Amino acid sequence: MGSGFKTLLAPLTSLAHGRDLDPAKQPKGERHMTELRGKTAMITGAASGIGLASVEVFVEKGANIIAADVQDEAGAALETRFGSDRVRFFHCDVTRDDELQNALVKGSEAFGGLDILFNNAGSGGTPTGVEDLDLDGYDHTMALLLRSVFAATKFAIPYLKENGGSVINTSSISAVCAGYAPITYSVAKKGVAHFSKLAAAELAAHKIRVNAILPGFIATSIFGSSLGASKEAALQMSEMIAQGGGSMQPAGRIGRGTDIAHMAAFLASDAAGFITGGEFLVDGGMTVGPKHAWDTSAPNPVLEALGISPEQAEAMREALAASDT
Ligand SMILES: NC(=O)c1ccc[n+]([C@@H]2O[C@H](COP(=O)([O-])OP(=O)(O)OC[C@H]3O[C@@H](n4cnc5c(N)ncnc54)[C@H](O)[C@@H]3O)[C@@H](O)[C@H]2O)c1
Repeated sequence: MGSGFKTLLAPLTSLAHGRDLDPAKQPKGERHMTELRGKTAMITGAASGIGLASVEVFVEKGANIIAADVQDEAGAALETRFGSDRVRFFHCDVTRDDELQNALVKGSEAFGGLDILFNNAGSGGTPTGVEDLDLDGYDHTMALLLRSVFAATKFAIPYLKENGGSVINTSSISAVCAGYAPITYSVAKKGVAHFSKLAAAELAAHKIRVNAILPGFIATSIFGSSLGASKEAALQMSEMIAQGGGSMQPAGRIGRGTDIAHMAAFLASDAAGFITGGEFLVDGGMTVGPKHAWDTSAPNPVLEALGISPEQAEAMREALAASDT
C-alpha cells in the first residue's frame, strides 16, 4: 500500500482502534463476557415473576442487586435468601419519584455505584376499552407502566454515565399486536419500546445502552392479580397457565420468568456491548402468525374467511388433481 493511501486511511484506522473496538482491551473469553461479576443492577418489580427470576439469574451471574418493589415481605425474603451483601431490598412504588430516588441513592451507595437498570415493575392495568375508559385507571396504568420508565431512567443517568451502563425495559408483545392485553396497557408498552429506541439514541454519548424486551405469554401471577385474586391464588393460577398454555405458541410451552431473565442478563452484559435501541421478542414464536402456520390441525384463516370447510377444500384439491391426470 502506498504511503499516500495509508495517510488517507489513517482517520479510519484510529477509529477502529478506539477504546470500544480494540479486541485487546476486551475481557477475555465468551463466558466472562456474559457474566455480570462486579456489576450492580437495580431491578424493579423484583419480588415476583419476571423480576424475581431476574434477581436469581443476575445473582448467579455475579451481580449485586438493588431490588425494588411494593411487596415488603417478599422483598425482605430476598435479602434473607441471598444475603444483604448481594441483594438489598427497598420498598419502592415506581409511581413515586421520591421512592425511586431513595432506592437508587441508597442502593448505589451500598454497592458503590450502578451499572444496570431493569425497569420491569408492572400490572395488567385498567381493563376498560376506549368507549368506557376509566380515566383514573388510565392515569395510574400510564404512571406505572410508562412514566416510571422515564423517571427511573432519568434518575439513574448520573450513576450510569460514570462508567457506561445498560437500561433494559420490559415491554410486551401487546406493543405489536392487538388482542393480547387491554388497550391502555398495550399503548403504554408500545411507549416503553419506543422510549427505549429514542433514549438509546440520546444516551449513546454517555455509553449507556437502552433496549426493550417484548415478552409473550409468561406464567406469572400477573394474570391472577389482574383478576383481583389473592397472591396465593394468583401464584396457583400461574402454575395452571404454565401447564395449559403450551399450545398458544410454536415453542409448544408457555414462557417462564427465567426465559425473560436470561435475555435481560444478556442485554445487561458486556457481550451485548454493540446492542442498543433494540426491541427483542421473547415469545416462543407466539407472534409469527395464526396458529395454522405452525399447527395444520388448527383452522386455516383463509379458508374460514372464504367459508370453505377443510373437507370441501380437500374435495377441491382431489378434483383438481383428477382433472390434471
Ligand atoms: N407475564 C406475562 O405474560 C407478561 C407479558 C408481557 C409483559 N409482562 C410485563 O412483565 C413485567 C413483570 O410482570 P410479571 O409477569 O412478572 O408479573 P408479576 O405480577 O409476577 O410481577 C410484577 C411485580 O411488579 C410489582 N409492582 C406492581 N406495581 C408496582 C409499583 N407501583 N411499584 C413497584 N413494584 C410494583 C409487583 O409487586 C410484582 O412483584 C410487567 O411490566 C408486565 O407488564 C408480563
